Amino acid sequence: MKNKSILTLLTMILAVTPFTSCSQNKQNNGKNMENKKTLIVFFSRTGENYGVGDINKGNTHIIAEMIAEQTNGTLFQVVPEKEYPHAYNDCVALAKQEKQSNARPAIKGDVAVEDYDVIYIGYPNWWADMPMPIYTFIEKHNWQNKTVIPFCTHEGSGLSNTEDYIKKACKGATVLQGLEVQGSIAQKSQDQARKTVQNWIANHSK
Ligand SMILES: Cc1cc2nc3c(=O)[nH]c(=O)nc-3n(C[C@H](O)[C@H](O)[C@H](O)COP(=O)(O)O)c2cc1C
Repeated sequence: MKNKSILTLLTMILAVTPFTSCSQNKQNNGKNMENKKTLIVFFSRTGENYGVGDINKGNTHIIAEMIAEQTNGTLFQVVPEKEYPHAYNDCVALAKQEKQSNARPAIKGDVAVEDYDVIYIGYPNWWADMPMPIYTFIEKHNWQNKTVIPFCTHEGSGLSNTEDYIKKACKGATVLQGLEVQGSIAQKSQDQARKTVQNWIANHSK
């Protein structure tokens, strides 16, 4: 009698086990924006920058990699053909000129946005706007029916109105709420930045 109940219990455990592991897999996949093909496009500058000194990896680049870790997305860096000045003040002056003239600096390489469902677009806040090479990139592509998710690093201005600029530039896309991370936090407090990124992704992946 005792043996029979142990056998019944074992059978029940075995019967339930495969279903449990299957539903766990489903949950893990669910976190990855329901298996959507994800691209992370970003612009980021190295050299002398505000509040962080001379950096080898840009602040936005660090956040872009954290998003890629979380989403299994593909990274693409927008690189201008002509590098921006290493010195912070020279870069600030050039960026101001480019914004005022609504310039479209030439960029290296490309990636087919059209092959992806979800596209994160990342950039530093430059003069309350995106660096002009981001516009060069956006204007090369068809954004119809894409989900676009902005993120930016900054030193006090947050996203400014860049979410609206992206909505205007990425015609036909659904633009989700963006993330802003202070550049010096991305550079110097990466655990804190990673948690912020994880929470934000968890919120829009629900
Ligand atoms: C040309 C230039 C303009 C900037 N303008 C602003 C600004 O208007 N508001 C702000 O909060 N930060 C501004 N910053 C600071 C950057 O947004 C911040 O350092 C950012 O994290 C740099 O990202 P990156 O390392 O990925 O290039 C500016 C920096 C540069 C180089």
